[in-house]
Amino acid sequence: MIIVPGSSNGPLAYRVAKLTGARLAKVEYRRFPDGEKYVRVLDDVSGEDAVFLQSAALSPDEYLVETFLASDALKDLGARSVTVVLSYFPYARQDERFKPGEAVSLVTVSKLLRSAGADRLVTVDVHRHRVLDMSKLVGIPYVDASAMPLLARYAADAGLVDPGRTVVVGPDAEAEQWAELAARELGAEHAALVKTRLGDREVKVSVTRGVDVRGRDVLLVDDIISTGGTIREASKLLAGLGARRIVVGVTHALLVENALEKMLEDGVEEVFSSDTVPNQTTRVSAAPAIAGALRSLGLAGG
Ligand code: R5P
Repeated sequence: MIIVPGSSNGPLAYRVAKLTGARLAKVEYRRFPDGEKYVRVLDDVSGEDAVFLQSAALSPDEYLVETFLASDALKDLGARSVTVVLSYFPYARQDERFKPGEAVSLVTVSKLLRSAGADRLVTVDVHRHRVLDMSKLVGIPYVDASAMPLLARYAADAGLVDPGRTVVVGPDAEAEQWAELAARELGAEHAALVKTRLGDREVKVSVTRGVDVRGRDVLLVDDIISTGGTIREASKLLAGLGARRIVVGVTHALLVENALEKMLEDGVEEVFSSDTVPNQTTRVSAAPAIAGALRSLGLAGG
């Protein structure tokens, strides 16, 4: 197996290579004067199981085009198989036609990945509100790895929460799956709030069933923080319900429009995230989760 890094997240590709004992390929990326992307794989990949790793966050168009070019090139250069690891899978939030005439980007990107030569796909905590079974959509062997147990372990080991008095909370129905995974790691309880999206930046969060956070540590978990609107509304609600402290663990911290500052101003004690989108909140590597997913697909030995 050879790990081929996209230009978005070399350090994560390096960590996955280290953990799996795979070779790390050299790749040249540059732009032509007109802005088009140039990709050149510098290692011999013939007969290899190539794993192309890209975190297509924040410049999704650029990183997706790179992914299509690289996957197709790897196939053409004789790789035995091509596995695409989109440690941040972009365009997943438009997973339905909410208004007539809209493009459903999750479906389009899935189709393009397959047609660009991907034989397998790995994602990390992919956003899936309405599409519960992504493997049908992608049509190739597929694993969605989760960084949630790693994030929960970090919160406990760093003393951010006391597992014995913690409730792990997801800010919406979808996030309940992540709250459950994190809670299992800590042996804690979990709960989910209810979210209604009012616009790109505005959400309303409420409680429908008994969420008892009075005097407890709350670990608020989600797949993505974009503008921080969801976490801000959820944490205001939880503080109002008497939470002792609120810390936030997310897989993909996009942190657009000063999201971090706004969350901290609103009383969140700490925000930490995985290295799928490296920034000042990154504390945990998703590499072990990705390595596990590759193993479960029959790659990376064992
Ligand atoms: C969508 O429901 C996701 O799971 C996140 O909750 C959402 O992307 C967060 O976006 P924002 O930070 O802008 O509220």
